[in-house]
Amino acid sequence: MAKKILCVVGARPNLMKIAPVIKALKAGPTPFDVCLLHTGQHYDSAMNDQFFLALGIPKPDINLDVGSASHAVQTAEIMRRFEPVLEQEKPDAVLVVGDVNSTIACALVSSKMGVKVIHVEAGLRSYDRGMPEEINRVLTDQISDILFTTEREATTNLAREGIGGEKVHFVGNVMIDTLKSQLAHAVPMLQTLRQSGISTTFPSAKNGYGILTLHRPSNVDDVNILRSLLRTVAEISNQLPIIFPVHPRTRGRIEKQGLVELIASKNIVMLPPQGYLEMLGLMKDARLVLTDSGGIQEETTALGVPCITLRQNTERPITVTEGTNTIVGTDPQKILAAFEEIMQTGGKVGNAPELWDGKAALRIADVLHDWLNQAQQRHVA
Ligand code: UD1
Repeated sequence: MAKKILCVVGARPNLMKIAPVIKALKAGPTPFDVCLLHTGQHYDSAMNDQFFLALGIPKPDINLDVGSASHAVQTAEIMRRFEPVLEQEKPDAVLVVGDVNSTIACALVSSKMGVKVIHVEAGLRSYDRGMPEEINRVLTDQISDILFTTEREATTNLAREGIGGEKVHFVGNVMIDTLKSQLAHAVPMLQTLRQSGISTTFPSAKNGYGILTLHRPSNVDDVNILRSLLRTVAEISNQLPIIFPVHPRTRGRIEKQGLVELIASKNIVMLPPQGYLEMLGLMKDARLVLTDSGGIQEETTALGVPCITLRQNTERPITVTEGTNTIVGTDPQKILAAFEEIMQTGGKVGNAPELWDGKAALRIADVLHDWLNQAQQRHVA
């Protein structure tokens, strides 16, 4: 009988990671029986439905519909609703991706119920416990039975925490599998602006444009930091027009704090959250990207586009050592210096990191076949 793997998604960044994994698990001579569960952590169409469509992810078999809440309530509610599902579905293993609240919530329930946990994108560490994702990463890795890493340093981090040996597999980056398979379908920038009702010819493709994304609580929940970041971006936009797809959390903060005026300029275009193919199209032709996202640091490295990261640290160091990423933090002077450098020199060129070749999900499926078959043989013996 086919082995059953229950795959979990919850938030937007999970979707581009799960798409190639599901495809690989369902392919080959002995496909897995795949069940897809959505926790409902993200629910807006722009944060969710559009991605399922664009990435060809099957409709979830189960939706827990948890929605937004404080971290404790959201995590607890996912756990409470996930337990009976696990009892009913009885999968051979539960597969979680990334580092969002849905990841730790479902990993914890599974591990307590004696169901094997698979973690895709394990071992990344910012060593900043102020980030909610860092707690999710450390805890998920501790209770996972098999762990897949995207870069060698992640494997080293795990070893330092006593997680090693046959449990850990360096397979590459499933998010880059998606990027490579979708690049040819990326929506051109001008089409994206038209779709959003922006009728100007801005930004002229000749002079180029930059992209801004911001959503980390440490940047947007502190009004002084948010104000300073927006002022700096306004200054940058005098030289390079900026397209700013705005996360719902960030839009809420900008409006509540009355900061819209700071960026009310013809050189800054605010857009709603974009679909995957639209975002890919915006990034691939940009002169640079300013961001506090984790995934975008990796995507810009894969695209060879210079990235200025508005954080003090990164859990994805290979994007700095091999890729196009520069970590600058939130100091306006440092941001402007990094910006000038890119405008003058074109910025870092970078190389494709090891195994970011579009085949990570296939490697994961191979490892899982061996692992679950061996587990069965051990059980029979
Ligand atoms: C979550 C992840 C973060 C990831 C980000 C990508 C955690 C701890 N954080 O942060 O790692 O980078 O997703 O987007 O899991 N909201 C909506 N519509 C939605 C979802 C959220 O309007 O569909 C609003 C709500 O006001 C909500 C807020 O955004 O309170 C934050 O959502 P939440 O899921 O708590 O965290 P994110 O900031 O999105």
